[in-house]
Amino acid sequence: MPTYILGIESSCDDTSASVLCDGKILSNLVANQEIHKSYGGVVPELASRAHQQNIIPVVNQAISKANIDKNQLKAIAYTRGPGLLGSLLVGSSFSKSFSMGLEIPLIEVNHMQAHLLVHFIDDLSIEKPPFPFIGVNISGGHTQIVLVKDYFDMEVIGHTLDDAIGETFDKCGKMMGLNYPAGPIIDKNSKLGDFDKFKFTKPKVDDLNFSFSGLKTGFLRFIEKESMLNSDFVSNELNNLCASLQNTIIEILFDKVINAIKSTGIKNVVFGGGVSCNSGIIKKFKSKKNDFKAFFPKFEYTTDNAAMIAMVGYLKFQNNLFSNLEKGAKSRYKI
Ligand code: KG4
Ligand code: ZN
Repeated sequence: MPTYILGIESSCDDTSASVLCDGKILSNLVANQEIHKSYGGVVPELASRAHQQNIIPVVNQAISKANIDKNQLKAIAYTRGPGLLGSLLVGSSFSKSFSMGLEIPLIEVNHMQAHLLVHFIDDLSIEKPPFPFIGVNISGGHTQIVLVKDYFDMEVIGHTLDDAIGETFDKCGKMMGLNYPAGPIIDKNSKLGDFDKFKFTKPKVDDLNFSFSGLKTGFLRFIEKESMLNSDFVSNELNNLCASLQNTIIEILFDKVINAIKSTGIKNVVFGGGVSCNSGIIKKFKSKKNDFKAFFPKFEYTTDNAAMIAMVGYLKFQNNLFSNLEKGAKSRYKI
């Protein structure tokens, strides 16, 4: 009998539902919330309301695209945290009610674990990383280095002390007048710019931790100063600014990952999160010069998606790791 799992993700501004069958993805629907664009960032209250509107149609579409009946589902896996509490509550309440209605088990999933375990989806085009590996979660809300010994044996060994890497892309993009989310735009513009044109100070942070707030402030001061001399500075230099900023961010990330490789002796590096589709990051970490191996998710599994939640649900289902109705959404939820 095939094991069908429904995954539900609602931790930030994407409402997503996915049906997985024995490790293979049958459907993965994502409803993006365009509403946040005009605010230059995610507005939590608007995100919860949009999740409420989206969740039923998205789940219905995921089930019909998978070509199954809801009664064939064996379990429901949902994101318990971390994320925006109001957003998480929509997904968790819906999942609880649906699992009660269908009388099937509920499985709670840690969103950050899911970003890394998405690499275990059964798909011929995905190479599964061997354990142990160094997980690198880079997204709009997180920047962390994780020692992954097994599916559910993970330890955060480095994290950002202030801004996340995606937040840095987005906020610096906003300073240049780019729309939210600016990460993909900066990535695109960088391809046309000179990454050596401008130098920005890199933070000095001990251990495997990160800090991006100094770079952000330095970037702002620099463009403010140059714009005083020439009001067209940003538009004239946009591609060079994007390329130089992106290059600095990549160098910061690369140095920390190299330190993690040195301190653990582990040479498999597995990426997860929205920023992991950045073309400069992929190029740098996939370079033949490196003496380690880097794994990047398929594009559709980089940004927030329910396929990764369903995948973790399947792994937990096989290990009888079920949740219950008493467990609530957690905005802070450790790996
Ligand atoms: O994982 P994700 O979808 O949501 C969070 O959990 O935060 O990540 C979204 C982040 C945003 O900050 C967005 O600007 C960034 O990922 N991002 C990128 C690229 N594509 C998305 N950053 C740099 N380069 C990209 N190509
Ligand atoms: Zn995420």
